[in-house]
Amino acid sequence: MKKNIMDMNEHVIQTINLTKEYGELRAVDNVSLSIGRGEIFGLLGPNGAGKSTTIMMLTTLLKPSSGRAEICGYDVVKEPNKVRKSISVVFQDHTSDEWLTGWEYLRLHAGIYNSSEARIQELLILFNLKEWKDTPIKQYSSGMRRRLEIARGLVHHPEVLFLDEPTLGLDIQTRLKIWSYIESLSREEDVTIFLTTHYMEEADKLCDRIAIIDDGKIVAIGSSEELKSVLNSNLITVKVKNPGDMMQILSVLGMESEIQGNSIQIHTTNAGISEIYDVVRDMQNDVELFNVKKPTLDDVFIYYTGKEIRDEASEHRRHPLMRRGFI
Ligand SMILES: Nc1ncnc2c1ncn2[C@@H]1O[C@H](COP(=O)(O)OP(=O)(O)O)[C@@H](O)[C@H]1O
Ligand SMILES: [Mg+2]
Repeated sequence: MKKNIMDMNEHVIQTINLTKEYGELRAVDNVSLSIGRGEIFGLLGPNGAGKSTTIMMLTTLLKPSSGRAEICGYDVVKEPNKVRKSISVVFQDHTSDEWLTGWEYLRLHAGIYNSSEARIQELLILFNLKEWKDTPIKQYSSGMRRRLEIARGLVHHPEVLFLDEPTLGLDIQTRLKIWSYIESLSREEDVTIFLTTHYMEEADKLCDRIAIIDDGKIVAIGSSEELKSVLNSNLITVKVKNPGDMMQILSVLGMESEIQGNSIQIHTTNAGISEIYDVVRDMQNDVELFNVKKPTLDDVFIYYTGKEIRDEASEHRRHPLMRRGFI
């Protein structure tokens, strides 16, 4: 099903100053969000930022300390049963019941929700698990397991699907495949997806909108493009046969540049890109390369928090000697 703008205006998830304290620690700090129907929404932040705690409150598994949250118009504290009927949640370290086959596993969950066998068939096809349906889960690859778990989350046609770090610990190939399954389920099922991640690329490629969370607080929210354009900073590399000429034109334009061999590097604003492009176009066949590096979500995270997400988020933190190849 194609997303339409009207649907996006209907808020299926709404939080106002949602807060959770564990004793002294404020794990989620006054989070206010409005998420439209059909969106793929990503909560991006390092380990310990408060992502799972947010999901637990939104899925009625944890009571907020203060603030409110509504899912499909139902209050998570006052109407938890109605919320639970509208949603599904797949947690990061959930393990499927290994001795069951894929079909038995889905059948078990479909039974809980009175879903039909036709629904199971549909999900097996959507997640490309049909030919493995009679194989015990213990023989599945990690990517197949993750697909099966997401399929399990969809047996009762939830309006909102919560995915807590859906590709945590998977290799990059498998991660890419999971993204394409999530994208296709967003297209084909009328479901809003709220996912958490500490993978920049995941948020960048998959999510319609992203909220960056750090120490329990939302520090920025918007589409990936919107978040990056706020930085208004780009790195242009131009390789020319005669860099001296180009440097001269740039200095007349009042642009600072650095030279490395035949390459010139210029830090510029969004507006500056077209100015430099005009210069490059006039130089015609003198130009060997023209490259614009826009900011990444990494840069956005650093801009708002003063630190890198990668440092903190690395699951496979390596010993410094190992990084240098000593051990
Ligand atoms: N049950 C708990 N009791 C006390 N502190 C907790 C509990 N669960 C999480 N925390 C703390 O709350 C913060 C947010 O945790 P969490 O929501 O799991 O973050 P994330 O999912 O982003 O890694 C962390 O500092 C974590 O140590
Ligand atoms: Mg977590």
